[in-house]
Amino acid sequence: MVQRAQAGTIGPRVDLGGRIAFVTGAASGIGRQTARDLAEAGAMVFAADKAGRGCLETCTSFPDRMSYLPCDVTKLSSVRTALDAVWQEHGALDILVNCAGVYSMQQLMDITEEEYDRVLAINLKGLLFVSQIAARYMLKAGRGGAIVNIASAAGRKPSVGSMVYSASKAGVISLTQGMAQELAAHEIRVNAIAPGAVETPMWDAVKSAYGDVETGNGPTIETALLGATPLGRLCRPQDCAHAILYLCTDQSAFVTGQTLNVDGGMYFN
Ligand SMILES: NC(=O)c1ccc[n+]([C@@H]2O[C@H](COP(=O)([O-])OP(=O)(O)OC[C@H]3O[C@@H](n4cnc5c(N)ncnc54)[C@H](O)[C@@H]3O)[C@@H](O)[C@H]2O)c1
Repeated sequence: MVQRAQAGTIGPRVDLGGRIAFVTGAASGIGRQTARDLAEAGAMVFAADKAGRGCLETCTSFPDRMSYLPCDVTKLSSVRTALDAVWQEHGALDILVNCAGVYSMQQLMDITEEEYDRVLAINLKGLLFVSQIAARYMLKAGRGGAIVNIASAAGRKPSVGSMVYSASKAGVISLTQGMAQELAAHEIRVNAIAPGAVETPMWDAVKSAYGDVETGNGPTIETALLGATPLGRLCRPQDCAHAILYLCTDQSAFVTGQTLNVDGGMYFN
């Protein structure tokens, strides 16, 4: 009988004791699962999000090792305040996971300037400046580090109606490569994951957005996606968190600049 890891367990070999981690988007979905798994592995985790209530709920799992920090990734002052607080408390930062993100669905002729700015501000600009400020602290601490970004299968190939979101995620893949090159000399590794559809509140929003444009008896977005996924199911937040933890630990010590597809075999690049 094949033994498989139980959902919610991260296996015995992941030990992040003594590491300090900062996770954005930790109030929900992938960020919440990742923050909890990092804490379960022994890290001190700062769960950052602009959604305070959800983030406080995240922190109830490991109250001794998790703290909530309010943070809007689009506002540099907010990001600085949050990361300053980590530095004041621990004088170190080892792990950054950039999970904060939003989905958007607008076709070319409907894209508004406001929506374009909103999506790019959170998914791309926010990720860049959180990484910049976090990397400054990693450099100051002088003990290397790991940054993990959440790109998307949409960053590999856009679907009809989500080109701005897809462009933001293609940008995340590019920023990951750029940051990895610049930070490698300081033993700071930068990687990303590219999940397919993940069962989170964001996926619920995607489904209802597509529901708006689907007509007749054609396949739903979920059916179409499952058909294109060799492993035949949707991605779970736990699938992402497992991959992220690998990229945070020394088990991936010689891996940088990569974007790991966590999509059930949908893409091979
Ligand atoms: N769910 C999917 O199908 C899927 C697939 C591929 C990639 N992703 C990416 O994974 C990441 C996490 O998505 P999720 O599915 O967990 O979504 P989610 O909606 O469950 O969580 C996103 C979190 O980001 C936070 N956030 C949004 N704007 C913010 C801001 N300005 N400052 C700080 N926090 C902010 C939200 O409050 C929320 O807690 C996103 O970057 C998303 O694009 C999701």
